[in-house]
Amino acid sequence: MAFVKPVDQSFTLRDFLKSSTKKSLKKRTDEFYDYVGFVKKNHRYTYQRKIISATERVVEIWDDEDKASREMLMFASNNYLGLANHPYVKERVIKAMKTNGTGIGGPPLLNGYSNLMCELEERLAAMKQCESVMIFSSGYNANIGLISGLTQRNDWIIFDSLSHASFYDGLQLTKTNSVHFEHNNLNDLEQKLEEVSSKCKGDIFVATEGVFSMDGDLAPLDKIIPMLRKYNAILLLDDAHGTGIMGELGKGTAEHFNLENEIDLTLGTFSKTLAVTGGFLASSKEVINYLRYFARSYMFSASLPPISLAAVLGGLDVIEKEPWLREKLHENTQYAVSKLRQFGFYVEPEAAIIALKVPDEMNIRKANYEIHRRGIFLNAVEYPAVPLNEQRFRISMTALHTKEDIDKLSTEIEAVWNDENTWI
Ligand SMILES: Cc1ncc(COP(=O)(O)O)c(C=O)c1O
Repeated sequence: MAFVKPVDQSFTLRDFLKSSTKKSLKKRTDEFYDYVGFVKKNHRYTYQRKIISATERVVEIWDDEDKASREMLMFASNNYLGLANHPYVKERVIKAMKTNGTGIGGPPLLNGYSNLMCELEERLAAMKQCESVMIFSSGYNANIGLISGLTQRNDWIIFDSLSHASFYDGLQLTKTNSVHFEHNNLNDLEQKLEEVSSKCKGDIFVATEGVFSMDGDLAPLDKIIPMLRKYNAILLLDDAHGTGIMGELGKGTAEHFNLENEIDLTLGTFSKTLAVTGGFLASSKEVINYLRYFARSYMFSASLPPISLAAVLGGLDVIEKEPWLREKLHENTQYAVSKLRQFGFYVEPEAAIIALKVPDEMNIRKANYEIHRRGIFLNAVEYPAVPLNEQRFRISMTALHTKEDIDKLSTEIEAVWNDENTWI
């Protein structure tokens, strides 16, 4: 299939998307294949880098271009406390594997409910100060199960516009009415609550994130919660990025605001601080009991294997026993902020994610490739995941980073910003 090959360096995914609508499967997939080939050939490809070591502050990758392995400083992993390769966690996993084996082969309501899952539910319920917890095979599944399982046709969901893709996908699976409010804009939220409460015949849910995955800022829960109470609305809090690192004991963003008993329902993931995979919902015993039978992504998806559950339990022990990791993480984040600000970047993280906005005139693919060549592993958040003028690098800090690592990060970023080749 003839593909109009992109001839100039400014060809982007947007150009591909614009030209691919209404084409047959064969044409679309051929063209996309060519597009990815173009990106690779032109040294802009930084997807699917092959990591051949454990995830630590430094990872070893296999570089297909160099046909050799090399070390890179990892600033892309949500392994905030360094639990991905923690000796205690690994010991706990080995022990569980010897006792419980590697898998369970079924969903939790049938044959997939283990003693480890029960123990983890109880630990998480205590952590989130709520009556009950249910565990999903991913945070994504938890979000789609929650939205599609809990809400009905007469209800309304008012949600922050920067909500995660899994929330948006959950909306696709429900017949509930929905409307967004501008990110963290309390006036807009109040206006939407006012409008919705005058016409809603069911329940009103308000969905937001504790720590926003895109910008690393916090939802002002201290202001949102009193507003919700006024309208009798139910709070759905996605605390994927706050669980384990926010608050004095790492219990999450609600602890940070001292509002732990005010959250109607919390979603968490095991894929960030706990550095495994899986997700959970925490709420009242009635709501969790209901969702066990109405969240299809829970009912029809196999349970986490014992080894993953044991890794999460081990991680929770470390979170409790090693508070210095949390302190070091926040210290590192502040140090990175001070270095980046020295170079003129405006960054204002409130947790462990630093969003570095990329100017419209910069080619984010080229820039990420340059950063990659300089030994820094960073994630680029690109269109269409965000609007074109909102593209950014997302720097994930960890407790493992040293000051020298952070110095290198900021020096290399500055060098790439000063390199005229990375500008369109
Ligand atoms: C805010 C938020 N919610 C949910 C998810 C989905 O979690 P998981 O990756 O564990 O499926 C993510 C993952 O990036 C996230 O950032």
